[in-house]
Amino acid sequence: MFITFEGPEGSGKTTQIGALALRLRQAGRSVTVTEEPGGTRLGLKVRQLVKETKDAAISPATELFLFAASRSQLIAEVVKPALAAGRVVLCDRYAESTLAYQGYGRGLSLNLISAVNAIATEGIRPDLIVLLDLPPELGLERKKGEGWDRFQAEDLAFHRRVRQGYLEMAASEPDRWLVLDATACAEAVGALIWQRVAELRRGDKRRDQDGRSGLDIKNSEGMQ
Ligand code: TYD
Repeated sequence: MFITFEGPEGSGKTTQIGALALRLRQAGRSVTVTEEPGGTRLGLKVRQLVKETKDAAISPATELFLFAASRSQLIAEVVKPALAAGRVVLCDRYAESTLAYQGYGRGLSLNLISAVNAIATEGIRPDLIVLLDLPPELGLERKKGEGWDRFQAEDLAFHRRVRQGYLEMAASEPDRWLVLDATACAEAVGALIWQRVAELRRGDKRRDQDGRSGLDIKNSEGMQ
């Protein structure tokens, strides 16, 4: 199971990922928690490059490739091996961040970004994308005093486009997205996430059982 968390600055993704990881582990699952940009040695270097304000002149396309480079390394080094080992992977931001920030935010073509994402992700898509939705003013207010990075320093109009982008993506694929009001208290948000993840897990078990009974039918047919 691969679950990603998206949302604007200060939407509480880290808190919710921690809470979900704990619940999953208590339920006996092995969990890998990771983040973008970051998650690998190379990714951490990219994280520094894209966040620091002194390189403010990074072009939108360069930004796209930097995030894609971090993502492709994370997929190869962390996500693919963890999923192959049957672990649940929780990732703080993923491909949809690039569509939201570099696409809706910076104005790069969504089709081009999707093509780059397809290379970086090797086609690995989340089973569930949790969007912690929040008016950007509120999120930025929550982060005040921490020192702005290049994205936090963008104007409100940029952050509004990012939010709009997320909401459009979520509306176009409601089965994959869970949109939650991040202004609600963290416990309430966490309970809703857990409810949806529990549904996903039940769905998985059912598919496993169906798969097995499908096999049984085949076997019994073969024996006749
Ligand atoms: P981070 O400190 O991780 O922000 P947050 O805590 O809000 O997740 O910084 C990552 C920043 O990089 C964030 O502002 C969003 C931005 N970003 C992109 O613009 N494109 C991307 O593909 C990704 C993964 C992040």
